[in-house]
Amino acid sequence: MPTTTWNRHHILSLADFTTAEYDAVLQTAASFLEVLSRRTKKVPTLQGQVVANLFFEPSTRTRSSFEIAAKRLSADTLNFAAATSSMTKGETILDTAKTYLAMGTDIMVIRHREAGVPHAIAQEMDRLGVKVSVLNAGDGQHEHPSQGLLDLFTLCTLIDPAHPRIELLQGKKIAIVGDILHSRVARSNIWSLIASGAEVHLAAPPTLLPRLFAEYLGEEGDKKAIQGQLFLHWQLEPALQDADFVMTLRLQKERMTAHLLPSLREYHQLFGITRTKLQLCKPNVKVLHPGPVNRGVEISSDLMDDPEISLIQSQVTSGVAVRMALLYFIGSGKV
Ligand code: NCD
Repeated sequence: MPTTTWNRHHILSLADFTTAEYDAVLQTAASFLEVLSRRTKKVPTLQGQVVANLFFEPSTRTRSSFEIAAKRLSADTLNFAAATSSMTKGETILDTAKTYLAMGTDIMVIRHREAGVPHAIAQEMDRLGVKVSVLNAGDGQHEHPSQGLLDLFTLCTLIDPAHPRIELLQGKKIAIVGDILHSRVARSNIWSLIASGAEVHLAAPPTLLPRLFAEYLGEEGDKKAIQGQLFLHWQLEPALQDADFVMTLRLQKERMTAHLLPSLREYHQLFGITRTKLQLCKPNVKVLHPGPVNRGVEISSDLMDDPEISLIQSQVTSGVAVRMALLYFIGSGKV
């Protein structure tokens, strides 16, 4: 494992991540990806520690990915799903967290449909003076740091598999297309891509990309960097023109409070990623999607299955290595 000093106790947001932290995650994830290719895919790093996955919102890949990552590090895992828990009997989120604390949990991986819940639990753990670390696995429309980091890792390892580092994306043009308004993935990706020195081009219909989006974002992070590197488009074409990578996002129908789109067919026509539209991009363009995908809406079905263009499967594999790295950093030194 590369020797790095890691000072972050909780991982809640990428807005204030440093270059050193990004590089530490990328290099460590590369080592774990190598572990995952071995016959024995397990290391004893977190033996004796308890990782609790507290998912107050449905999830397939993120929850399973954290579970297998924790298991590959030899941690014991606890899985909580709100629908089958005592929350249905009225228990509060903090009481649920304290119950898991009393069972000896060392790391809480938390997903919630409200922004700020992982942050609130982290504060409570700090207030109680316990060593529990909190990892945000997606909070409302706010952030999804592990997804941002796995997307970064997927891109950097494509360029230099042996030595992924954030500077590899310097000057690349990256388009983020789709339901940006409701996307925590977009927000985390914007922070990491801005930090890399890439040009980030957002494209969506105006209802899904408010004119003041960048202003709001600037309140949380580096306003100056955003101004020079983040571009907003209400049409797809200028974002795709000469792009090196295209990140598509799911239409988050569960978060849409009003009728923001005339129809899914029209959305696909204007903003759906297809082979024809990709001709505007650089010749070797690659497409990412965090999943789950609405096939034929944000991306055409054939493109999604084309291994020459789609990085979707590679994102899922990268996710396990990146989450192992994150658990390793916040879990080391706990026992
Ligand atoms: C994303 C999420 O839940 O934020 N999915 C994921 O974690 N892989 C994006 C989405 O739901 O569209």
